[in-house]
Amino acid sequence: MCGIVGAVAQRNVTKILVEGLKRLEYRGYDSAGIAVVSEDQLVLRKALGKVSELEEKCIANPVHGGVGIAHTRWATHGKPSEVNAHPHTSDHIAVVHNGIIENHAQLRAQLQGKGYEFLSQTDTEVVAHLIHSLYEQSGSLKETLRQAITHFDGAYALGVVSTKEPDLIVCARSGSPLVLGVGIDENFIASDQLALRQVTDRFVFLDEGDLAEITADRIDIFDINGHSVERDVVQLTDAEESADKGEYRHYMLKEIYEQATVLQNTLQGRVSKTGVLEEAFGTEAKAIFDQVEAIQILACGTSYHAGMIAKYWFEDWAGLPCAVEVASEYRYRKTVVRPNTLFVTISQSGETADTLAALRSSKESGYLASLTVCNVANSSLVRESDLRLMTLAGPEIGVASTKAFTTQLVALQLLVIALGRRGCLSAEKESELVAGLLQLPELCKQVLDLDGPIQQMSEAFSEKNHALFLGRGVQFPVALEGALKLKEISYIHAEAYPAGELKHGPLALVDSDMPVVAVAPNDELLEKLKSNLEEVQARGGKLFVFADAKSGFSNDHGTTVLSLPHVPLNIAPIIYTLPLQLLSYHVAVLKGTDVDQPRNLAKSVTVE
Ligand code: G6P
Repeated sequence: MCGIVGAVAQRNVTKILVEGLKRLEYRGYDSAGIAVVSEDQLVLRKALGKVSELEEKCIANPVHGGVGIAHTRWATHGKPSEVNAHPHTSDHIAVVHNGIIENHAQLRAQLQGKGYEFLSQTDTEVVAHLIHSLYEQSGSLKETLRQAITHFDGAYALGVVSTKEPDLIVCARSGSPLVLGVGIDENFIASDQLALRQVTDRFVFLDEGDLAEITADRIDIFDINGHSVERDVVQLTDAEESADKGEYRHYMLKEIYEQATVLQNTLQGRVSKTGVLEEAFGTEAKAIFDQVEAIQILACGTSYHAGMIAKYWFEDWAGLPCAVEVASEYRYRKTVVRPNTLFVTISQSGETADTLAALRSSKESGYLASLTVCNVANSSLVRESDLRLMTLAGPEIGVASTKAFTTQLVALQLLVIALGRRGCLSAEKESELVAGLLQLPELCKQVLDLDGPIQQMSEAFSEKNHALFLGRGVQFPVALEGALKLKEISYIHAEAYPAGELKHGPLALVDSDMPVVAVAPNDELLEKLKSNLEEVQARGGKLFVFADAKSGFSNDHGTTVLSLPHVPLNIAPIIYTLPLQLLSYHVAVLKGTDVDQPRNLAKSVTVE
């Protein structure tokens, strides 16, 4: 999704801006642009497509200047094109914007009435012209931005420069993230600190509604009334940065292979040999946990699937009623809140607009407290939740989530145990669950070693248009996640069903052209699943079964079996996810799609 970078320095900022945009590429975008204040002129370069194309333009036609803003755009209003790419300008003003100005049509009409001409179809051009029209009176960019945002409905992170004040950037956030990078005699802005890690490790995370003015040697933060506010400078460590592909062909593959290590990180310092160390949830957790009687989980996409799996665990092991819902639905419906319900959000990025809006609306709804399971420190969800458990997966660059998902599952299991031990979860059961979790790194390695046969299996999918994924019980959401991975990166239509529902519809689709994938650990539903799979075989369906070595499946002409090591049942959803990730990856590679940045998708969805 859209990305912002800005810099004020004594040196030429063009390279910093372009490098920053490259670091934001993983978020998904369709065009890119920069505006640099160069000897009192605004110099713009824009390109449709990749940041490398913008870079080539900047090399062919160099840009010099100490103040600039840059942007990667993910089209919302108006198709991807150079004209619609940011920055948008109005005479001496240039603007980059993330988010959506919902009342743009009304503002556009008013500005057209004043004689402003619009070149693009974007909501952002409205911002540029409005700021231009207000500047005439105020004569101060900072004051103009403060006035301008009072006109906007919707969400925004904005960066603005003007040739009339050529030494500074002004910026503001509401509903979209924005961070300031603190350098030595140079300062920066970005929508994600990753964009600036090459120039600084010190950051100021703006709060909702904050505005700021930055020059090379000064940062002033203020509120909507223009009053100065103080925000902490946070120093980040290198451990939070490892955003390169290494020897891997794609980030996604690297991230799949990292799972053995990062799952260990999620556990480290949070479990003893026999139990969960509750301090991991923070000092305020105990008082809250003691009162919890129910759970409400909110998330989107892959994180929602993690929530669906956790529901099985909360109800089975902790005896706590648990509801799970996609945030985009929850936020717009009336809900009934049980007493002492813990509101849990799950998010890789911590910035997903719907999940954040759900958290914000929950504050008025009578929940006991909020907890987020999140991968990005200092993200909005982390800062606005009462409690947080970081998943510690490290930066995830591939748009299709892999390691973020499995680390979420581990973190959620720790939460289930911490709450369950206050009720029906015995010390023996806790120690059995923890023993299972501790086997994760080794079992992950064993399963990732099966890459060869999975790659071979992928050949049966690359020419197909559809695929069906089946699972039962807690493996149903695993099947959902497997189907989501396949459709996200290979563009094959894939659906997942609880295997017991097969005969209520999807069986009609089964023929030799429809590969059917089943996840079959040796659990209490195995025999039921086998009967469901026989229904597929009887109709000539081609089965691909990821099965426990002891499940009793064997290869025949209609069935391909991938034998997985026997795993403790509490980690089966995590382990069985891995071969499904690899399967999707290899199918996408065979199809030649853009694995890390699939078409039309974004990593961090910061608009509704
Ligand atoms: C986007 C990403 C998905 C992700 C979802 C939720 O759709 O492409 O991979 O699962 O957003 O994101 P979150 O950061 O909240 O987990």
